[in-house]
Amino acid sequence: MAEIDSAVFRQVLGAYPTGVTIVASPFGDATNTARAMVIGSFGSVSLDPPLVQFMPAKSSATWAEMAESGKYCVNVLADDQVDTCNKFFKKDVDPFSEVEWEMTDNGSPRIAGCLAWIDCDVVEAVDAGDHWIVLGKVVAMGHNGGEDGAEGKPLLFFKGGYGTFGEL
Ligand SMILES: Cc1cc2nc3c(=O)[nH]c(=O)nc-3n(C[C@H](O)[C@H](O)[C@H](O)COP(=O)(O)O)c2cc1C
Repeated sequence: MAEIDSAVFRQVLGAYPTGVTIVASPFGDATNTARAMVIGSFGSVSLDPPLVQFMPAKSSATWAEMAESGKYCVNVLADDQVDTCNKFFKKDVDPFSEVEWEMTDNGSPRIAGCLAWIDCDVVEAVDAGDHWIVLGKVVAMGHNGGEDGAEGKPLLFFKGGYGTFGEL
């Protein structure tokens, strides 16, 4: 089989756009401490039973801390949340001290101003090369809109930059 060059792999896969989420878990014994990662690899898996997934790198120290809780909340970012996204990516300061958030009934962090949130219990972390595929059973969910679904536009990631959705 031909060798796959890592730069080409990144470039080719960068042609596939993703949404941007912050996946967040509680951490430690205190009720107000939490850990989170900016994640593009979130996706819907199954309706019955309701399952979703995301893929943290095995090298991620943040995921190692998040995994201890056995749960996570996926926060789907809106196009006006680039600053929030950067705070959670850079982690210079604890991002949870800089944004509005609360714990869900299931005890995972829900961040204010997002399009949608999906609250999960971890079912399984599947071994997948240098990443894990973390399957979550959905225990609660919601969005910021009415009967037609979420209101506002999503933050999207494409070829290393941020953008949003425009209808053709
Ligand atoms: C738009 C975007 C999407 C990302 N998606 C993922 C992802 O799906 N999986 C992952 O492991 N890291 C992803 N990252 C990188 C992580 O957010 C970041 O490297 C990680 O939180 C650093 O954690 P660590 O300090 O524990 O390594 C993404 C970053 C950005 C900016």
